[in-house]
Amino acid sequence: MTTLSSLLAQTSFSDADIVTLLGLKDPDDIAALREAAYSLTTVEVGDTVHYRGLVEVSNICALDCHYCGIRRGNRDIERYCLTKDDVVDAALWSAESGYGSCVLQAGERRDEGFIAFIESCVAEIKERSVSQQLPHGLGITLSLGEQTLETYRRWKAAGAHRYLLRIESSNPETFGRIHPPTQRFETRVAALADLGQAGYQVGTGVMIGLPGQTLADLAADIRFYASCDIDMIGMGPYIVASGNSMLDVGMMDPQALLGLSLRMIAVTRLVLHDVNIASTTALEALATDGRAQGIAFGANVAMPNLTPREVRQNYQLYQGKPGLDQAPAQQQSGLERSVEAGGRRVGWNSWGDPRHFGRRTAANSSG
Ligand code: 5AD
Repeated sequence: MTTLSSLLAQTSFSDADIVTLLGLKDPDDIAALREAAYSLTTVEVGDTVHYRGLVEVSNICALDCHYCGIRRGNRDIERYCLTKDDVVDAALWSAESGYGSCVLQAGERRDEGFIAFIESCVAEIKERSVSQQLPHGLGITLSLGEQTLETYRRWKAAGAHRYLLRIESSNPETFGRIHPPTQRFETRVAALADLGQAGYQVGTGVMIGLPGQTLADLAADIRFYASCDIDMIGMGPYIVASGNSMLDVGMMDPQALLGLSLRMIAVTRLVLHDVNIASTTALEALATDGRAQGIAFGANVAMPNLTPREVRQNYQLYQGKPGLDQAPAQQQSGLERSVEAGGRRVGWNSWGDPRHFGRRTAANSSG
């Protein structure tokens, strides 16, 4: 019988191995998993955690995803779209604070007005963030949903170089259950391929603890990341949201959900090695030190929220979102404590690109 220590020392894992690791219950076993993932993180991506200042540009959304607090059908929130000045100022604040990168995230819109608005925000951030510390300006990540290849190319030409688009679940049946029929699994997969084709560093991820999801599904999610040659992973626990049309099915017990989310981070690290993995804010909705725990289990990216406080309460994708009224500077000291509590240091003033991207592009160009 394989012991846990020999399982953790493996360099490749079967689906059954992955399910075993995701299902660990004994605290000593979980500590061993955490330590293995943490050491591998140090070897594969170093001992720094990179910040990406998150700007929630707008909560106006054309889609109606059943799980999401800002879905179109939720009439109980006030809709907003920041001005270009607000977006650019928040991004420049992150550059001045040494973050190296920012993320622009918003509800999904595909109209020309929105596309051009993002294009001009990106161009201005890029131009105005060039400094001695950041000779190529801020790294800019977009998280703006499914768009056409042409739109991805426009935003890339304006200066963005990373894109996050979660698959939410790689099980087409689960995907179908949590989305209206107008949203198709195949289209999402094709969008991830388009992003690669447009030259982005591509990020995806899933929600953990979705109703009906099994450990085998989560193992398949990790295989899905590998099959798409993904560079960055952002995964978080599924937490019910107000205005959500899945309220009747509930959610996992918060403690069990936190444990499963952390094991998912660790196992993803063990299987995928050199990708960037975010310790997402949603972990902090389950435990005050949720992000520090994510870092201890193998994450190497954190996304401090820089959205102006006046609108933040209207961007609640799920209930209990932390830090709704913390000023960015206040948040920063808390986050630094999290990074240090996770045994890491902050990678100031650098983009912190995923090593996986450098390796896959070098491999593609050499052969
Ligand atoms: N719980 C957790 N994560 C959520 N997201 C949306 N709604 C929820 C929720 N209720 C996540 C989705 C989306 C990302 C921007 O936020 O995974 O891709």
